[in-house]
Amino acid sequence: MTLGWQITRSAAEGGDATVALVDLDDDALHPPADQGGDVTVDVTWSSLNYKDALAFSGNPGVARISPLVPGIDVVGTVAASTHAAWVAGDRVLLNGAGAGETRHGGLAGRAVLDGDTLVATPPVFTDAHAAGIGTAGFTAMLAVLALERHAITEGDVLVTGASGGLGGFAIALLARAGFTVTASTGRAEHAADLHELGASTVIDRGELDRESRPLESQRFDAVVDTVGGRSLATALAQLRQGGAAVACGNAASAALETTVMPFILRGVALLGVNSTVSALPLRQQAWRRLATDLDAVIVDRIARPIPLAEARSAAAELLAGRVRGRLSVSIGDLP
Ligand SMILES: NC(=O)c1ccc[n+]([C@@H]2O[C@H](COP(=O)([O-])OP(=O)(O)OC[C@H]3O[C@@H](n4cnc5c(N)ncnc54)[C@H](OP(=O)(O)O)[C@@H]3O)[C@@H](O)[C@H]2O)c1
Repeated sequence: MTLGWQITRSAAEGGDATVALVDLDDDALHPPADQGGDVTVDVTWSSLNYKDALAFSGNPGVARISPLVPGIDVVGTVAASTHAAWVAGDRVLLNGAGAGETRHGGLAGRAVLDGDTLVATPPVFTDAHAAGIGTAGFTAMLAVLALERHAITEGDVLVTGASGGLGGFAIALLARAGFTVTASTGRAEHAADLHELGASTVIDRGELDRESRPLESQRFDAVVDTVGGRSLATALAQLRQGGAAVACGNAASAALETTVMPFILRGVALLGVNSTVSALPLRQQAWRRLATDLDAVIVDRIARPIPLAEARSAAAELLAGRVRGRLSVSIGDLP
């Protein structure tokens, strides 16, 4: 038996979900029959992402099986394995790949996972730091790699949703890579924190979240966008010749109303990243780079640990927009 959160959706359409911190036996942790489960992990840390908060509310778009152990990030040690790549004692992590959505995730003491999706936890990071980075840091790294594949390795970059988890890691990673970072935020009172992460300039999100013209003054070589909507449309109109925007999130809106002008007159590109379905070689590459480019001090600035028992109330806070940065979740007692 192991302690973990379990979300059971109501059979009635639109009915409330039952959420409980319960003792889970092996049957309750087993993955659905169509998904691999050749590695059992003793989970030490997970985290609380927006998707996890939606799962706690019983959102059927995230909690795709019922009952479900939520938690899209899993960090821990292999307890047993029949997968050729992993043996008991290996430190491993997982971001997405269905965890906490279509199969049981990290908010429990044990997880039964598919060895083909696991990444070795870089030795430079503790389990707490690996969970603090989690999907947000991993996705920020994917955004940097997407720009590099597009041959954009320096210049002026805009990061939106800067005080969010993804935004914070994007600022730190882009500054470290040599970009000059402008951070856009709705919480100007935290500008000093964004400068500490590596932002040279902090702007109010109102500068972007407005009706924009098809082409505006050219300000940025690249954009890492976590909010979508009008901010992304304005950012596209402000990209320099040959620039690129990476669409990572939709914290403001999933809509994007733009024109073809930035694309056909300035040759800009709109790139996308999806951390959930990333192939294993890309996962491994991203975590290798995180290990060299991200100081644990930065993780401590962005992520705050909470105990497992607080995950449900923290999820409600997150949905209400009252959480800044990121929450990592300790499965055992908080150190
Ligand atoms: N593509 C992927 O694989 C992937 C992976 C992880 C997350 N995501 C998505 O990326 C987004 C950010 O994730 P996160 O973990 O960083 O979330 P988060 O910690 O909740 O941060 C989101 C940030 O967006 C800004 N924001 C919130 N509401 C806004 C609004 N109405 N208008 C403009 N800005 C607003 C806020 O920043 P300021 O207060 O600084 O303005 C907030 O801190 C989410 O949409 C998430 O679903 C995508």
